[in-house]
Amino acid sequence: MNATVESRVDTAIIDEIISRHKGKPGELLTVMEEVQEASEFKFLDDASMEYLSSQTRVPLSRIYSVATFYSFFNLKPQGKHSLIVCRGTACHTKGSKILLDDLALLPGCKEAFDSGETTFTSEDKQITVKTVACFGQCALAPVVAVDGVIYSNVTSEQIKKLLQNLQEDNKDENFRLS
Ligand code: FES
Repeated sequence: MNATVESRVDTAIIDEIISRHKGKPGELLTVMEEVQEASEFKFLDDASMEYLSSQTRVPLSRIYSVATFYSFFNLKPQGKHSLIVCRGTACHTKGSKILLDDLALLPGCKEAFDSGETTFTSEDKQITVKTVACFGQCALAPVVAVDGVIYSNVTSEQIKKLLQNLQEDNKDENFRLS
């Protein structure tokens, strides 16, 4: 997929976002956040950042440095659902590596996982997997966040069931651990 061409945010949408926040405190961050939210795959593509730069007169280098500094900005297309697996010591000891091994079996993820990438997205753009250093809930290890909901004592069976459910009915409301 050519992400730059196919995933760019409509310039009319970017114009509207810019004008709504013009002159307000934290303008650039808010505008970038909303542009990312407006993107189909929840990321800031090159073309949208270039357009944002041209319309706001903020140098493109500054926009890139903000996008790379804050972890909530994505520079690659994101999946519809997100799974964040804790890789801290307590979670590692309780088996978080096994959970990541399960997730590496998602279509198109093996190569990225084997090369040590900490974020990878399935080729059908259904799931993005990320890791985090610690959720601060070490007593409940291993800990995984599924679409923003934190789950504790997560097992490999739960992860496999989650992936299986997604394949079978692909319903957003069923994308949770049981
Ligand atoms: S190490 Fe996983 S929550 Fe702290």
